[in-house]
Amino acid sequence: MSLTFPPGFLWGTATAAHQVEGDNTNSDWWAWERKPGTPVAEPSGAAIDHWNRYRTDIEMLAGLGFGVYRFSVEWARIEPVEGSFDPAALAHYRDMVEAVLANGMRPMVTLHHFTIPQWFAALGGFMSPRAPELFHRYCKAVTQALGTDVAWWCTINEPGVLAMGGYLGAFGWPPGTTDTDSWHRAMNGLRKCHVAGRDAVKEVDPTAKVGATHAMSEYESNEAGRPLMEYLRKFNEDVFLEVCDQDDFVGVQTYSRVPIDAPRWAAPAIRALVGLAPLRRHVLPRLIRSRTDGFENTNRGPDVRRTDMGYEFRPQAVAATVRRAAELLPGKDLMVTEHGIAATDDSERIEFITKGLESLHRVIADGIPLRGYLHWSAFDNFEWALGYRMQFGLIDVDRASMERTPKPSALFFGEIARTNTLTV
Ligand code: BGC
Repeated sequence: MSLTFPPGFLWGTATAAHQVEGDNTNSDWWAWERKPGTPVAEPSGAAIDHWNRYRTDIEMLAGLGFGVYRFSVEWARIEPVEGSFDPAALAHYRDMVEAVLANGMRPMVTLHHFTIPQWFAALGGFMSPRAPELFHRYCKAVTQALGTDVAWWCTINEPGVLAMGGYLGAFGWPPGTTDTDSWHRAMNGLRKCHVAGRDAVKEVDPTAKVGATHAMSEYESNEAGRPLMEYLRKFNEDVFLEVCDQDDFVGVQTYSRVPIDAPRWAAPAIRALVGLAPLRRHVLPRLIRSRTDGFENTNRGPDVRRTDMGYEFRPQAVAATVRRAAELLPGKDLMVTEHGIAATDDSERIEFITKGLESLHRVIADGIPLRGYLHWSAFDNFEWALGYRMQFGLIDVDRASMERTPKPSALFFGEIARTNTLTV
């Protein structure tokens, strides 16, 4: 059976600067990766040297058949010292945009993907009352330098993950704060920064398409688990989607399903945990932190099939999240800006893409304005605190020689992109 996608449907891949460029020395992550006791499997180091190899990397992606390349620009390189912008870094990213265009693709540029300059971290990062003003100035400088050829701008990648993983301490990421106040301050800061970033891009290019990319999971619960599920979903997703109602598009990023089931006897305790301010403030964050996997690894029983990340193998979760985004922001253009699987066995990636796209085809048939699908990730890369063990790439990278080899999944997905059709 052939499933054809609407004309003009966008196909592509995504990366993020710190995960691929290498030697991101002025960033908070670079410093954190070297601090004794940091829970990181290995430092990012040279990553996959995308900083130097972007031209051939981009050619390879275009050759495989993709039409969009989503990449991020690194604030720590562009503004290594507060207020001082590096023209060479800006020229480098302008060159990346030109390389994408010269290869017949369209660029989506992410302005912030988890990492920040060390000077901004010293101010408190997104908790700083100055964050929106500083982020606005940075975004404006980038838009001015990269110009009006950027097809889509993404202000902030997965604010919910950053807030919970870094500021509430769920993943032990920088800045490493662990209290509820820091978490809420960061969430507010990220919300304001999204709006400030969007304004900055629009001030330079009023016709630019601007949005944010949101980590969304297929949340489910039984009756007893429901208050906790709703609480988690609210602070991972809804508080950020709320400030995106003026955006031009919404980026949805989904990896799995998160079922929050609890025994019936636990229902009163869960209601109290979420409902009573002192428990919510002091006990609930401890519970969230104790689940360093962000609850993604909860699943229903030992027989559940899992990815290398330990998540449930649930490619169709992406259809559930796109439907939810469409319900919350009716009529808004939607784009899957990340969907992928950590898999050493590449045939699992082919199956994941196939099942994910089948589910999305039904979403489109139901009239939901889904405009594109970008796979995470173009290359195997630095998977944050887990280092290089996790393989999310369509393209294998030998980090000793830096040689790139497209996997069968890259050819498979490239064919879908070229033909706009999935054959099942
Ligand atoms: C992030 C990526 C990350 C991917 C896989 C998303 O949360 O945007 O940076 O590598 O998931 O875990």
